[in-house]
Amino acid sequence: MATDSTGHSPPSKAEPKVTVPGIMAAKGTKKLTMLTAYDYSTALWVDRAGVDMILVGDSLAMVMLGHEDTLSVTMEEMLHHTRAVARGTRRALVIGDMPFLSYQVSVEQAVENAGRFLKEGRAQAVKLEGGAAVLKQVEAIVAAGIPVQGHLGLTPQSIAMLGGFKVQGKGEEAAKKLVDDAVALAQAGCFSLVLEAIPATVAQRITQTVPIPTIGIGAGAACDGQVLVVHDLVGLFDRFVPRFVKQYDQLGRRLYEAVCRYRQEVESGAFPGPEHTFGPPVQ
Ligand code: KIV
Repeated sequence: MATDSTGHSPPSKAEPKVTVPGIMAAKGTKKLTMLTAYDYSTALWVDRAGVDMILVGDSLAMVMLGHEDTLSVTMEEMLHHTRAVARGTRRALVIGDMPFLSYQVSVEQAVENAGRFLKEGRAQAVKLEGGAAVLKQVEAIVAAGIPVQGHLGLTPQSIAMLGGFKVQGKGEEAAKKLVDDAVALAQAGCFSLVLEAIPATVAQRITQTVPIPTIGIGAGAACDGQVLVVHDLVGLFDRFVPRFVKQYDQLGRRLYEAVCRYRQEVESGAFPGPEHTFGPPVQ
């Protein structure tokens, strides 16, 4: 198999599109990868690297738009970014993250907004947060032919109820509630389930109990797959770095250094040089 300059084997051009049945069939056979992306260029690179699912996460409120939390991002903003990601993605399954209050108010509104992610955003699935409270929404969205990914544990849209970005599912009662919610979401028709910031033993219990793939973020290695926010993975967002993040690069630092070099060279007259200039040099 051909490898790129890093020794990795990118997917060939002919590799078929990742599908929802394909994701479901991967449980127990292959570890799944998911990453966020919010724009065309990042989606291109993430897709080329062979990641299975690209989530246009509502985390874009924080890492792209500079909000304190995920609550204020709108449907229009989410759709704008989803369209860009869809244009940059050939192979991965694109999942649009339903923003706060786009599905909680009514089942009808949930179906309508989920549909907009497919129709206007060109995503292939949606994700929404919550357990028992959103089962009716999940059932109705799935009945409309729209694949749904669930999200349990630390659900940032409920930050006011949770009292902060804290590990969830500690203690037997809380763990059992998570397992029950996971089973209910699978029965309601979710094709996969994000588990965020919960003890690894609880994530393992859920993974062994539900028939759908679990995708962990701060939920340990027993999950069927892993997801990270791409800005965390490449070191582009340093307001805070959660314990579960592994930074594979320091792109923020490298961007800063490149910009500093550019500024110095413009100020010193070293840039632009003759090789960047049209026509004879100016005297
Ligand atoms: O919005 C997001 O990026 C997410 C992931 C952390 C799963 O929901």
